[in-house]
Amino acid sequence: MSRDQKFFDMYSLVIGILAAVSLAIYLLATKVSDLTEGVYLRDADEYKAAIVERIRPVGGVYLPGEEHAASAPTVETPAGPEPVATMMSGPQVYNTACLACHGAGIGGAPVLGDATQWAERIAQGASVLKKHALQGYSGSGSSFMPPKGGRLDLSDAEVEGAVDYMISESQ
Ligand code: HEC
Repeated sequence: MSRDQKFFDMYSLVIGILAAVSLAIYLLATKVSDLTEGVYLRDADEYKAAIVERIRPVGGVYLPGEEHAASAPTVETPAGPEPVATMMSGPQVYNTACLACHGAGIGGAPVLGDATQWAERIAQGASVLKKHALQGYSGSGSSFMPPKGGRLDLSDAEVEGAVDYMISESQ
């Protein structure tokens, strides 16, 4: 056997093996793609519908009268935040925000439960007292009731509840 012949045999063998490997890879790839994408799936209505949905134009033209319900933008309203704190009752507000001054009469504040100090004030009517408690008040000029007792984080309703409580305790 000549050297050329030997070389040729070897060469053919290598080419043959490479061809066989390529074919094997091709077959394997086809098989895998069929398994993942699915020959059957590709023909399924669902699959086709999904493609149509994916490549559908963003906008559509509708003549007057044939507006499509689906063309209206869908607005998703995010769920509102959960209220963290619930409303405090009148006595609770009084104890946390008003007691400091109204408990002992600091700075000329009318003392809770002292009917004589409160009689004239209560005579103004609950709504006036509430307004003074919410907005602040200085009747005599030398003493000053700060708006909401300085607790601006309190809701109006909470402060009003505290005023109701103070009135009921001071009559
Ligand atoms: C920093 C001290 C202070 C705090 C805190 C305070 N008050 Fe007063 N409050 C006063 C003073 C002083 C007066 C008297 C003002 C005046 O008549 O000049 C007053 C008066 C009032 C009056 C009578 C107003 C009127 O028309 O006569 C009400 C009602 C009242 N306070 C409610 C409250 C409530 C409710 C709170 C708590 C949320 C509160 N106060 C917290 C000092 C305070």
